[in-house]
Amino acid sequence: MDLESVKKKRESALAELAAADNAAAIEAVRVRYLGRNGLIPALMKNLKNVAVAERPAVGREINAFKKTLSTHLRERQAAQTATRPPATASAESMFDSSLPGAWRQPGSRHPVNRVIEDVVDIFATLGFTVADGPDIETEHHNFDALNTPADHPSRDIQDTFWLDDRYLLRTQTSPVQIRVMERQKPPVRIIAPGRCYRRDATDATHSANFHQVEGLYVDQRVSLADLKGDIAYFARRLMGPDVKVRFRPHFFPFTEPSVEYDFSCHRCKGQGCRLCKNSGWIEISGAGMVHPQVFRAVGYDPECVCGYAFGMGIERIAMIKYGIEDIRLLYENDVRWLEQLIG
Ligand code: DAH
Repeated sequence: MDLESVKKKRESALAELAAADNAAAIEAVRVRYLGRNGLIPALMKNLKNVAVAERPAVGREINAFKKTLSTHLRERQAAQTATRPPATASAESMFDSSLPGAWRQPGSRHPVNRVIEDVVDIFATLGFTVADGPDIETEHHNFDALNTPADHPSRDIQDTFWLDDRYLLRTQTSPVQIRVMERQKPPVRIIAPGRCYRRDATDATHSANFHQVEGLYVDQRVSLADLKGDIAYFARRLMGPDVKVRFRPHFFPFTEPSVEYDFSCHRCKGQGCRLCKNSGWIEISGAGMVHPQVFRAVGYDPECVCGYAFGMGIERIAMIKYGIEDIRLLYENDVRWLEQLIG
């Protein structure tokens, strides 16, 4: 072995590497030259047989050979990994059952949705089906057909979000009554949950965007007694068997007679507390017997049909049921608060 022969071996090694066109061929070059039984370790071992005078130069040449080849190998291997096609291993061989699972925070229903579901479920047991209407309504559906006088204050720009002189954001779910009766013949028994909008300044009990559920039952013989019985049944299913219901005379343009109804305060059991402002009662919503003018507006004959209607505020019920004192908490959607509330 002399300097020249080592130099030649280096050149042929580099040529072999340049010719290697896949990962296996590159690896074969590595093993042939740098492996434990490869050429370079053999040259090292042979060094002791080289004449003493030449040994340092031959030794340096072998080291240079090793270094150059290693560097070129590393570059080729890196280039090879970068261009390698995506792994084709099967999903099963990639699955590692010892890895910790991905933790997903469990979610829960929002109190507003919970109440909507509860109300819908309870009225479904009385034969009511869910109806729907648009958030953007016509003045006709939201006011005129509901027998609301042209000069009624609720139409005022201060109370209603008008989009132009005909369209508005519905201020109540009552227009769904009109839409259903326009397209369906009696009997009608619907429940209609949805968003409503009013130009209310936001405070602890008001929000410009809130939810109502509307109910409508029209048939040949529907009376105020049906309304009272169904609302009392609803109250017991929603709040528990001890709740009492109270009806008070009221006025709505679309019902005659009209009532407002209250539930006995479930927190103090009617004794008086902060939630019920010491009255023992909590106002829930309005209801009444459908006004003949409303029937006429949808083409029903008020001599042949009668019905009751009611509308209730969902947030109000959620606040009472879950003891929430500020409506704004329902819209902040702070997950920590929601978790604590519903669990
Ligand atoms: N729409 C009424 C409101 O927003 C609530 C209401 C009262 C609905 C009486 C009705 C009803 O259907 O009969 O205050």
